[in-house]
Formats: sequence, structure tokens, C-alpha cells
Amino acid sequence: MALYDAPYARKYRERDDQLQQVASNQQLIDWLGQVCDRFVHPIDVLDLGCGTGRYFWGLRNVKTLVGLDASEPMLVEARHPIHADRVNAASLSLVHGDLVSHEFAPASFDLVYSIGVLAEHVRLDDRLIARVRRWLRPGGRFAFTTVHPESPSVPRTAGRRLAEWTLPLLPAALSGGLHDRFVAGGMYGDERWLRDRLSKGFAIESLERFRSDVHLHGRCVARKAGE
Ligand SMILES: C[S@@+](CC[C@H](N)C(=O)[O-])C[C@H]1O[C@@H](n2cnc3c(N)ncnc32)[C@H](O)[C@@H]1O
Repeated sequence: MALYDAPYARKYRERDDQLQQVASNQQLIDWLGQVCDRFVHPIDVLDLGCGTGRYFWGLRNVKTLVGLDASEPMLVEARHPIHADRVNAASLSLVHGDLVSHEFAPASFDLVYSIGVLAEHVRLDDRLIARVRRWLRPGGRFAFTTVHPESPSVPRTAGRRLAEWTLPLLPAALSGGLHDRFVAGGMYGDERWLRDRLSKGFAIESLERFRSDVHLHGRCVARKAGE
């Protein structure tokens, strides 16, 4: 990963320390802990695009934690994550790989989560959702953030402004193509995109907008259904 090279990874890890003063970071930590609390047993967890392990310490009641990332330098930093002494996992392994192509055995995890990666760096599409579903055990959960297409950080091109105005006026059956363009085929994710994608094999438990210091996000917890 060209962007996440060693100097950038070092800075990213330093930012983990600074973020301890930022409310939205603490809100994500709390959210993650609450997702863990929905399980009545110790869980096996996968962090997709774990980076420097910024959120590891928010997890609770974890047996095994696997962090997957495409950047080796980010994984080097993740060996010493923020609040390492508070990381509540019986075992932690860091895996270098691309989440679009890396394989895990089916039904390996109770929780797959991903913060700041999907519908941001990696397209959140049907294929990816089917992969996550395969890795989850029955009743397992998928918790993730997206960048919302209405985020101030997303360029408000004339096309996007027009779509924002037109989409609520059009029946869903006629507006599919326009909406796909609005979310750039899953490079951003709004409520409609997530509901449509997750309708195949997940039941949404919560879906809300969330503001971080950088973006307006979608934030979602979905439970594997249909088994
Ligand atoms: C903004 S950082 C988020 C890191 C961490 N989840 C956090 O919230 O601090 C994005 C991370 O996604 C990783 N990433 C991007 N594309 C990826 C891919 N295709 N497979 C695995 N990791 C990827 C990058 O290497 C980077 O560490």
C-alpha cells in the first residue's frame, strides 16, 4: 500500500495517542464494546483493515483477535497498539493480506468489524458482504463504518448535488442507477446502499449516522441471518 508506508504508519500511530482526547474516538470505542456485549459467550473477532490496532482496546470478552491489513508498516505499528495493556484478547494475530482476496475458513468468527476502511478505501459491494458472511458463524455480527456520500469530506460535484435533490423524489424502481452513481458503486455508503446490500443474508440491528473528526459516516451492526 503506497499511502500507508512506514513514515505514514508512524504518524498514524502517533495520532492514536492524540485521539484519546477526541470525543468521537471514544464513542467508537464504546460502540465496539457494546457490540461485544451483545454476545453471551467469549468471541473470536476479525478486524478488517486493522491499521495500527487503534480500536483493539475497545473489544471485550474476546478469545482470539485477528487483525488483517494490506500494509506491512501499519501491522508493525499494530504490534504495539494504543493501550496494549488493556487489549482484552486471549490471543492476537496480525495478518498481512488484502481483504478483497484473502481467505479465512468458513465460520471462523463471531464478530467481523471494520472501521475507516469499507466504502472509503475498499468498495463495499455484494461480493465483499458475501465473503464476510461466509467467515461468520451463525448469529455472528458484522459491524462497520462507511463514509456517507453526504459527508462534507466528499466532493459535492454538480452530479452529486443533483442526485441528492432528485433521489428522494424518484420511486426506488427508477432511481437505482442514479443512486449507484451517488455512492460511486460502494466507494461511499448511505442507508439505502447498506440496506440493499445487507438484505442478502443479514438482519440490520442498528444503522445510524456518525460524525468523526474527519467524516460523516454510516455506522452499522448487522447479524448473520438465514441459517
Ligand atoms: C484509515 S485506515 C483505518 C485503520 C483502522 N481500522 C483504524 O480505524 O484506525 C485504513 C486501513 O485500511 C487498510 N486497507 C486499505 N485497503 C485494504 C485492503 N484492500 N485490504 C486490507 N487492508 C486495507 C490500510 O492499509 C489502512 O491500514
